[in-house]
Parts: sequence; structure tokens; C-alpha cells
Amino acid sequence: MTKKTVFPFTKEFPALGRRLGGRRMIYLDSACTALKLKSAAVAHNELLLHLGGCGGRRSSHALARAVEERFDWARTGAAAFTGAESADEIIFTSGATEAANIFAGAFPFTPARNEVILSPLEHNSVFLPFYNLSKAGKIKLKVMPLKGFKPDIKAFERMLSKRTALVCAARASNFFGGVIDLKRIAAPAGAAGAAVFSDDAQYAPTHPVGAASSGADALAFSGHKLGAPFGTGVLWVKKALLARLNPFKVGGGVVKNVEVSGSGFKVEYLRDYQGFEAGIQNYAGAVALAGAFKTLSALGPQNIRAHLAAIVAYAYERLSAVKEIKVLGEPEDLKNGALIPFVPARRGFSPADLNIFLNAHYKDRFIAVRTGRHCADLASLSSGLAETVRLSFFVYTSKRDIDAFISALRKYLSFL
Ligand SMILES: Cc1ncc(COP(=O)(O)O)c(C=O)c1O
Repeated sequence: MTKKTVFPFTKEFPALGRRLGGRRMIYLDSACTALKLKSAAVAHNELLLHLGGCGGRRSSHALARAVEERFDWARTGAAAFTGAESADEIIFTSGATEAANIFAGAFPFTPARNEVILSPLEHNSVFLPFYNLSKAGKIKLKVMPLKGFKPDIKAFERMLSKRTALVCAARASNFFGGVIDLKRIAAPAGAAGAAVFSDDAQYAPTHPVGAASSGADALAFSGHKLGAPFGTGVLWVKKALLARLNPFKVGGGVVKNVEVSGSGFKVEYLRDYQGFEAGIQNYAGAVALAGAFKTLSALGPQNIRAHLAAIVAYAYERLSAVKEIKVLGEPEDLKNGALIPFVPARRGFSPADLNIFLNAHYKDRFIAVRTGRHCADLASLSSGLAETVRLSFFVYTSKRDIDAFISALRKYLSFL
């Protein structure tokens, strides 16, 4: 790829040019899932079709070794993209949800340190694994209050104690947009002896992840939100914490030794990522994911950020001019993210109806946005906002997409 890549970067995304039922698509739902990179899809299929063997050091024939080689290559690429100190810290998962479930289930809580503090921005994929642990009496769960649309840091600091084992703080909210300064949470958490987990599902697609210098001890994100296939993702855990995690998702490939012990068995698990990737893995997905990382890295994290900041600023300006809606959040913060939420500001405006309108009114096009709670019940309950309309963006989003939405929004409002 040349250094002078032009944004919006569309040419690698064949779905953009597709017509559905003869209608062209205006896609403003990338926070749900990004459209897929052609190169990633090709890499995915190539591994399946030309090298469909198993990796994981199970079989030792040439086909298995070839798959394993590519899997190792993918892990090295994932470590570079994530900013990990070592590829051993990279656990491939099916996405952020699986990563959060594994991390919650494996975390070494003790009776003396069994409290988890969640940010109010947590997606249900992080909230629910810890909610289930608390229902089972294994941990105590607390949620930081919201201040504006961010966690209340002062209140959070008062919640910390020597019982706090873990603090979870998503760096970019899928409900409010913008980003948080993770260090403002990680520093006091670390001083209190607690570990920090960051859900980077909305952050990683448009920001340098920088795991080792982020302040987090663990973080996770999904591949499908950055153009890689579904069923791919990364859980990064700092080596010192990884060594302390308990086995959680277990099965083939994670065992170092099993022996008879007394009247039962004694199992010794493998260390590092190998202890957490049980069962045959998504080798094709991992290789495609690493291909997507390469493409995004070649585009340049600064260029991607600059494009998203310009798109968010433009969308903010155009949306703010519509008096029948209220855009949530401050432009300076929203510009650091990749989405904009708004709520109706006049009676009779229903996000659900708008959604139907965007998909049914025009014969030549439809517009994809997301309305609802966005699986972020903590954010919804903390803010009292039952639902929002969310426009979300990626490297291919153009100002014309925003213009098309604004014109449709005004048309919808003209019917009220
Ligand atoms: C902030 C956040 N975390 C986690 C997830 C879950 O990701 P996945 O469904 O890819 O596992 C999402 C998905 O929308 C999200 O927005």
C-alpha cells in the first residue's frame, strides 16, 4: 500500500458496492460490525481451502506444521498490533465476548480480594460474566457512578479498597462514544493493588492499542469490528497476571501432563496463551485477523484517527443543526471516538420508526444505523436513556454518507 492512501478508504471493502434488492447501502453501523476487508476474507478462504489441517502442535505432519507456522505468524502480528511485549501474551478468542468470559472465569479472586468495580460504560459482554460470578457468591460487584457521560473518577477512587481485585473500564463506549483516559482509572487501581481490564472492542479498530503502556493488565477486542472475519478476537494478558490465571475453558491442547494421583488424577496445564486456547482453534480466522492488522497498520493509525475525527466533527456539526434531536456528548470528546449518539427532542419522534423509515422509504437506497440500548444496559440505566440513535463510522465512511443520513432524517421529520 502506498503512503498516500486516500480516505475514505473504500476499495478493500466489496460490500460497499453491493446492492441489496437493487438498492445501494449507506452503512453507518460499524460499531456493530465493520464491513469486511477483501484481503482478510481471501486469506481466510485460502487457509481453509489450501491448508485445511489442524494446528496447535497436535499432529506433527507437514500439513499441521504449515498451519502452525501461519498460526504463529498470526500471533506475532497480533502481538505487534496490540502492543504486547510478547506473543505469548496473546490469546486468540472468538471475540471480545469470549475474551471477557474467559478472563472473568480465570481471574484469581481470593476470599480477601474478591471485589470487582465496573465502569458504567461496560457492555453486557463484560457486565454479565461478572454479574454471574456475583450471583454465585464468588465476588462482590460494584459499578462506578456516571458523571456526564464518563465514569465519575473521584467516586471511583472512593470505592477502591484493599478488597478490590479488579477494575473493568472500556476505553471507548459503544453507547456514548468518545474515549476515556484509562490511566486515570489504572493509576489509582494499581496503587490499590487491583488489576485492570479494558474492553477495547470499540477502541482497537481506530486507535493504536498500545497494550504494554496502556495501564491495563488485560484487554480484549473483536476482529469483526475492524474488518476481519466473524469469530475472531484477541485477549491480551500481561505475563505476570497470565501466570496467575486459573484454567477456565479447558479441553484438548491445554494440558501439559495428566497422571493418576491417589484415587483420582492430577492435571498440569500449559503456561502462557497455550493454557487458554482449548480445542481446535480458528486458524483461518487468526491468519485473516493478522492480515487485517497488517492492512490497518499500513493505512497508519494517525491517518485513521485523523479521518475518523474529521467524520465525527462533520457529523456532529450537521446533526447539531437539526433542532428536533439532541446530540449526546461534547464534540471534543466525540472526535476521539468513532460514533455519535442522539436522542429525539420532539414528541412523536421514535427511533424505531426512524429505523423503519431509513430501510423502507427510498427505492434506490437504504441507510443502516443502530437504534436501541446497544447491549449497554449499565450505560442506559446509569444515564436514564432508554434508547439512542447511533451513527458509527470506520475507515470507509464518507461525508456523503452523513449527508445522506441528514437528508433522510429531515425527510422523516417532515412527516411528523
Ligand atoms: C464495547 C463493546 N464490548 C464488547 C462487545 C462485544 O463484542 P463481540 O460481540 O464481538 O464479542 C461489543 C459489541 O458490540 C462492544 O461494543
